[in-house]
Amino acid sequence: MHTFQPYPIELYEANPFTLIADQWYTITAEKDGKVNTMTASWGTLGSLWGKYVAVVYVRESRLTHEFLDACEYFSITNYEKGNRSALKYLGSVSGRDEDKIAGARFHVNYDSGVPFIDEGNFSLICKKIARTEIKPDQFVDPNIESDWYKDGDYHTMYVGEIIKALAR
Ligand SMILES: Cc1cc2nc3c(=O)[nH]c(=O)nc-3n(C[C@H](O)[C@H](O)[C@H](O)COP(=O)(O)O)c2cc1C
Repeated sequence: MHTFQPYPIELYEANPFTLIADQWYTITAEKDGKVNTMTASWGTLGSLWGKYVAVVYVRESRLTHEFLDACEYFSITNYEKGNRSALKYLGSVSGRDEDKIAGARFHVNYDSGVPFIDEGNFSLICKKIARTEIKPDQFVDPNIESDWYKDGDYHTMYVGEIIKALAR
């Protein structure tokens, strides 16, 4: 396992747009002793309810959705360039069908019992503080429904309070 240091989140200087949309990240959660992770390119980092938060958007069909519903804490992990094919794999295969973490040659590390992916260079340990199901009647722009939800597989927003940042 690699060594990670707690990192003061106030010093974090990444560009959230390129970090999330272009570089992607993984969302990791545990249910009944099993850990699952998936790639994501939608997400929000910011400030809400007096806390620093990470918001992840996960479709109902994902195994990770089930795991996020079950867990109290989850993590998100960023990677150096060079992990693109592993991230594509983790974003195209379901943990229902394969042991994806082993398949990607990744490993699970833990901080205070919360799983995160050891091969990342930066992880945020998050406490789930809110869960909101996105519904069609919430859209102001009608294109959102037709562009993204023709199959009815809506996202749920999970708001995580950032408890700790870990840098490798
Ligand atoms: C680049 C990329 C970004 C993705 N972003 C998201 C996302 O933000 N939300 C989501 O629900 N699925 C997203 N996916 C799809 C999931 O990662 C994919 O369905 C995955 O296989 C789900 O795994 P699971 O069933 O083990 O949870 C993305 C996939 C890729 C390749």
